[in-house]
This record gives sequence, C-alpha cells and structure tokens, in this order.
Amino acid sequence: MTVQWYPGHMTKTRRMMEAHMKLVDLVIELLDARVPLSSKNPDLETLTKNKPRLIILTKADMADAKQTARWEDHFRRSGFFTLALDLKAGKQKNMTARVTALVQQIMAEKLESKRKKGRLSAPIRAMVAGIPNVGKSTFINLLAGKAVTATADKPGVTRGRQWINVRTAHKQTPGKLGDIPFAGFDLMDTPGVLWPKFEDPDVGLRLAVTGAVSDLILDRITLAEHLIMMLGDAAPEAINARYRLPAADESVNTKNPRDILTGVGEARGFKMKGGAIDLERTAIMLLDEFRGGKLGRITLELP
Ligand code: G4P
Repeated sequence: MTVQWYPGHMTKTRRMMEAHMKLVDLVIELLDARVPLSSKNPDLETLTKNKPRLIILTKADMADAKQTARWEDHFRRSGFFTLALDLKAGKQKNMTARVTALVQQIMAEKLESKRKKGRLSAPIRAMVAGIPNVGKSTFINLLAGKAVTATADKPGVTRGRQWINVRTAHKQTPGKLGDIPFAGFDLMDTPGVLWPKFEDPDVGLRLAVTGAVSDLILDRITLAEHLIMMLGDAAPEAINARYRLPAADESVNTKNPRDILTGVGEARGFKMKGGAIDLERTAIMLLDEFRGGKLGRITLELP
C-alpha cells in the first residue's frame, strides 16, 4: 500500500515558511518520538538553510524510554540541541524552563552580540514546525501559558499564522548563560506540513498508523494489518498482552496479520450478524488504541 497525502494547503504553507524564514532566529522542529525519522520533513533541511535548530521529540510518554534516549543521543551527535518531552505533562515537568534554557544556549552568540549593541530588549524569534498532529499547538500553548491556538482534531487542518509571546508568561532561566540577559522569545506558529512524496513507502505507513496522515484516504483494515506487522518487530508481545487473543495457539497463525486482526476482533466480541468478525470496526479500534498509547510505550523505528 502506498500512502501519499499532500493537500494543496500544504504547498501554501511551505511557501509561507520559506518567505518567513528570514524573520526568525531559529527553528524549533517537532518530531514524534515514536517515529523520529519518518516524522522528519526532508524539505525542512532546505527550508531552514543555515538557521539554528532545536529538535523536540514529542509524545515521549508514548515511546519506549530507552529508544528515546538513544534518539536524543543520535540527534545530539548529529549536532542538534535536542529535548524529549511529554507535552501532556509539560507543566509539571518545568518544560518551559528547559526549552528556554536550550534556546538561550543555541542563541548564545547572537545574544552576546545583541548585548554589545545594547539591543537585548528584542526577543529571539522562533518558528515552530512539524508534521500534522505532532503536538505543535500543545507545545505552543504550554509555552505561552494559555490556550492560544485551536488544537485541530483532524490532521492537516490549517490555522492562521501568528506570533505568540513567551517572554511575559514565564520567568527567565538563569542556567549557564545567566550572565547574559535574555528578553525571552516569540514563537511563530505554522500549520502542519508534509512533503510531496514519501520516497520510502514505510514512511507513509508509519505516519498513517501514528495519525499524521488523514485516515480518510486509507483502507483501515490494510493499515491495521501494517500496524500489526510493525508491532511484530517493535513490540511482539503488545497485542497479546492487551487483547489476550482467544487462540494464541494453532488456530491463529501468529505470523499472519489478518488472523491476528480477526483474533483481536474476536477477543473484543466484534461480531456482525451471522457471526463473522467485523474487521473494519476492529481495525478502527486497534488503530485508535495504538494512537492513544493503550498498547504500551512503543517506538516504531530505531536509531
Ligand atoms: P498539531 O498542532 O501539531 O497538529 O498537534 P496538536 O498539538 O493538536 O496535538 C495532536 C494530538 O496529540 C492532541 O491530541 C494532543 O493532545 C496530543 N499530544 C501532543 N503532544 C503530546 C504528548 O507529548 N504526549 C501525548 N500523549 N499526546 C500528545 P488530541 O487527541 O487531538 O486532543 P486531546 O485528546 O488532547 O484533546
């Protein structure tokens, strides 16, 4: 199955990002910790040109903690400041202070030169970029200390571009650069954007099972079968642990995704009139539960 999804508004978004790149000092790139490579927009490499970049791995609460630590290490070794976050627990974990400290470090030189010119009152400007549903609104709302963006419930819903002020909502973090005053930073929100063609078909599938690509363009049963195959590699015990397949024995071929999907439907009692298993309903439930983290903390691609 090949997944391709690049609606027209994404072309516009890409153009907007390109045009506004000169206005920003750095780019905060959000990646999904469960699929850090597949959720990395290759277009952004060209778009960001030489802008400094902070990589935030979102949804760390749904990914395998050990693998997330490896991914953080991977990106740091590639020269990026990187931070893994559970955005839903952001407030408790002092998230804003940690992000601010990193922005200060990334911008150290620029802040120093501003200080020399006596222009420290101007805030640092950051563009927040990432694929649909990666957590951009949640991230911005947490940093701004209030709900400033409407969290879209469908991937790819466009929002108006806006600047969000982070400097007043939170105290500055002294950290290592405490001697350099810091006027805080402003964030530019951008709508979720993908890229025209997934070179590797697995990338499209990973983005579909994690919910970045609209479900409406896919056959959910096939997609759920792909998820089952991915779980076979990433978390072989996850399905049986959650659904306790009625026949994890001879009658279910534990290597055959259709059999496993049928077993899950049977375990949930999803029968149609006549007794056959409702595979569509089972597939929707399985995808939903995976996306909601109910199958455990699972990372689908390894560094
Ligand atoms: P976007 O702007 O990039 O499109 O993403 P958005 O912030 O709208 O987040 C998409 C969904 O992902 C939201 O769930 C949001 O709560 C969830 N989310 C974002 N970051 C994290 C995270 O770090 N951990 C977890 N577990 N979830 C995260 P939703 O179901 O659309 O909304 P709701 O259930 O929060 O109301």
